[in-house]
Amino acid sequence: MPRSSQWYSGDDRNSYIHRAWMRRGLPSGAFDGRPHIAIANTASDLTPCNAHLDEVSRSVADGIHSAGGIPLNLPVVSLGETQVRPTAMLWRNMAAMAIEEMLRANPIDGVVLLGGCDKTIPALLMGAASVDLPAVVVPGGPMLTGTFRGVPLGCGTGVWQLSEEVRAGTLSAAEFTRSESSMIRSRGHCNTMGTASTMGLLAEVLGMTLPGVAGTPAPDSHLLEAAHDTGVLAVDLIDRDLRPSAVMTRASFLNAIVALAALGGSTNAVVHLLAIAGRLGVDLTQDDFDRVGSSVPLLVDLQPAGRFLMDDLYRAGGLHAVLAEIRDLLDPAALTVTGRPLAGYLDDVRVYDREVIRTRERPLQPEAGIAVLYGDLAPDGAVIKPAAASPGLLTHRGPAVVFDSIEDLHARLDDPDLDVTPDSVLVLRGCGPRGYPGMPEVANMPLPAKLLADGVRDMVRVCDGRMSGTAYGTVVLHVAPEAAAGGPLAKVRTGDVIILDVPNRRIDVDVPAAEFAAREPAPGTVAAYARPSRGWERLYVDTVGQADTGADLDFLRGSSGDAVSRESH
Ligand code: FES
Repeated sequence: MPRSSQWYSGDDRNSYIHRAWMRRGLPSGAFDGRPHIAIANTASDLTPCNAHLDEVSRSVADGIHSAGGIPLNLPVVSLGETQVRPTAMLWRNMAAMAIEEMLRANPIDGVVLLGGCDKTIPALLMGAASVDLPAVVVPGGPMLTGTFRGVPLGCGTGVWQLSEEVRAGTLSAAEFTRSESSMIRSRGHCNTMGTASTMGLLAEVLGMTLPGVAGTPAPDSHLLEAAHDTGVLAVDLIDRDLRPSAVMTRASFLNAIVALAALGGSTNAVVHLLAIAGRLGVDLTQDDFDRVGSSVPLLVDLQPAGRFLMDDLYRAGGLHAVLAEIRDLLDPAALTVTGRPLAGYLDDVRVYDREVIRTRERPLQPEAGIAVLYGDLAPDGAVIKPAAASPGLLTHRGPAVVFDSIEDLHARLDDPDLDVTPDSVLVLRGCGPRGYPGMPEVANMPLPAKLLADGVRDMVRVCDGRMSGTAYGTVVLHVAPEAAAGGPLAKVRTGDVIILDVPNRRIDVDVPAAEFAAREPAPGTVAAYARPSRGWERLYVDTVGQADTGADLDFLRGSSGDAVSRESH
């Protein structure tokens, strides 16, 4: 009997109540044991990247109907990356927790997860992993390429580039504003290889989508076709009782790490994959990203590391064409929701544009992926994406210029008297999960205006926060423990020499060890943040983990399953 029959199948008062209130539009026979499938939909006008998902949901529902299931729309917490304050990451765990609880509490047998914008697919996967009901994702897909001044403009990446031009005085404010509608050309999520693109593609590599759908542009009719097919698949998935814990295994996560490197994906995937794995009890560590992924070549020439955008990747053959190039690095046993291994879908793929998808012999970079650094400044690790960094800065010594908060940075960065040179190392603390709170995307801090005017375009930057997946630069991020949790970043002073040595995976400070150990944290950096008095922020600050374990709440790691033991009627 399907799980929903626990609600509907009896002839007692409780079953009467559950059935009767649902008899508004459901077909006769809806309670005869057919699978009831939620469509967990993150469509929202305030998540503009996901606003089209209602249309996608209708196609999913048609597919579920056609296969004999009952589709049930379940609007869930949505997060618009560009809209919510103070940072969307503060709410990822809240969305995941709410999704988990609503999937468990309701009479459903499985779920189709509709996401797109950065945090939505991670939150959906975290929630579904914790409940472990049969689940499948439809990634909402990227927007089409817009052009400005005759050249393609990548979402996010273009913002950073154009805003630096304004600060350097080479672009007027009016022209800057004029570019907005060029950057956001259509429905869909950001079209660079940012976090949304990365997590949509990795959802497929994890085995959690209909094979071949990830990366389909949002306005493309293939997306609705695939959404319909996903609805059909969801019914079959419940018949086969194939659950996320059987699909998202350690092998799947290691495949995702390999793909992340070959795609040049976002550093945010590190915290998201760790958090999803944590919900499943999969033994995945930050070091796996370096060990498995750092020697994988970068094969996809997409912004921010390269030139093209997501619909170019789709045109060039898409995700499967990339995976076929690195097939020998993938675990052939890792399953997809169809029950077939991911590797089984890579036989007949072709690459249609070798400028977009490179061969292993002619990669964009020979070694991509995420490097995990340790040292005086990061006892529990920090990450850097060498593919987005300046090669000449991957080994560097320079004096620190320390900022205690993002507000401090904004107040002083462009001060003509700021003692900073191109060799300086910008250090920004107070931006970790607990300190901000919410671990915002600020690690790719802007460069001082006077250096920009001199033509400087990259500097070494160190931060306990995250970086937008659409950003670039020599940025050491996710420093753990963060300053607010007592990490050594709290002890660094302006003028201390920072030593970055990516080849040897080190980030140190050139201060005698005894002297550094004896130092007190700078005033206001540790446990001096204002503890929120109530609400989600209070719960978050009290229980959030550090970046090296995915920044999930400590009590949400592990699965609780789908059982609900009590009934109130
Ligand atoms: Fe939604 Fe970039 S703002 S994906």
